Amino acid sequence: MNILAIESSCDETAAAVVRDGRQILSNVVLSQADLHALYGGVVPEIASRRHVEAVVPLADTALRESGIGKKEIDGVAVTFAPGLIGALLVGLNFAKAVSFGLGVPLIPVHHVRGHIAANYLCFPELEPPFLCLAVSGGNTLLVDVEGYTAMRVLGRTKDDAAGECFDKAARVLGLGYPGGPKMEALAKGGDPAAYRLPRANISGHPLDMSFSGLKTAVVNLVHNAEQKQEALDKKGLAASFEQAVSDVLVSRTMEAARVTGRSAIVAAGGVAANGQIRAALSKAVHEAGKTLYLPPLRFCGDNAAMIGAQGYYEFLAGRTAGMELNAYASMDIELKGR
Ligand code: KG4
Repeated sequence: MNILAIESSCDETAAAVVRDGRQILSNVVLSQADLHALYGGVVPEIASRRHVEAVVPLADTALRESGIGKKEIDGVAVTFAPGLIGALLVGLNFAKAVSFGLGVPLIPVHHVRGHIAANYLCFPELEPPFLCLAVSGGNTLLVDVEGYTAMRVLGRTKDDAAGECFDKAARVLGLGYPGGPKMEALAKGGDPAAYRLPRANISGHPLDMSFSGLKTAVVNLVHNAEQKQEALDKKGLAASFEQAVSDVLVSRTMEAARVTGRSAIVAAGGVAANGQIRAALSKAVHEAGKTLYLPPLRFCGDNAAMIGAQGYYEFLAGRTAGMELNAYASMDIELKGR
């Protein structure tokens, strides 16, 4: 089954053609990061407008590069939630038009399910069940992936997502957008013990996380240093911050692995591109005698191939939609209420 997939939930317009959920025939991504960098973060209105300009040529490119014709497309998968509502609507309406025009099923895909499915494209042997740490700009979740479309949330952030925290900390340090990779670059060679930063525990919820206190601690440190005109060890602060995020993510993941007994652990989402987090997770998983699946960096960030991969399994589970399908700014990965 050949699926044309469209992703437009934030600041990347992406299109791909994926065969049987596992084989990428084409995968094109157009990042808008430069446009938003001017403003220090994603401007939703600009994102939507850019998606409108980009989605048709990008889908054409994906089709051309796939080497197959329109008639060989058997379904259209699209990110319908969660994300920036205006941005989502552009991809969704385009996908509806293509599905209607070609007379093929429309397959709604949850964005974070897509991030998890990026691993199916990278690791042919990977099948559920497994435990997944899904960490992106808007989500931080520990998910028990019981089946391709059966997900159970074991733990989540109670406030900011880890990626959001990276972006805010980078901003206050004057690094600009997108902050994650810039924080990682600054942290290189810095002392991870330079600053004592909080690692929050949530009483009674050992698998949940909280990053807002960490974010505030960094903001306060920077502002205090500015007010007192004291020198700040920026490299040390970035390294201490990265260490704190890593400690929380890795400890929760290993606790979830212990509780569930899952032997396969998967990482997904933009923050999974972070070298310190990858190294710490690899070490912990190895020590626990379990297997870690870490997608290559280009499959951590947003792309449409991951939507095509998950779309295939959503289709097999009978989850297609009609033209009444709407986009949703927020939606649980368990798709409760749908
Ligand atoms: O998965 P993603 O590309 O988009 C969402 O679905 O949200 O994740 C984007 C997030 C941003 O917050 C970005 O700063 C963060 O992932 N990120 C990183 C790194 N690369 C991207 N965070 C830490 N270290 C990185 N190397």
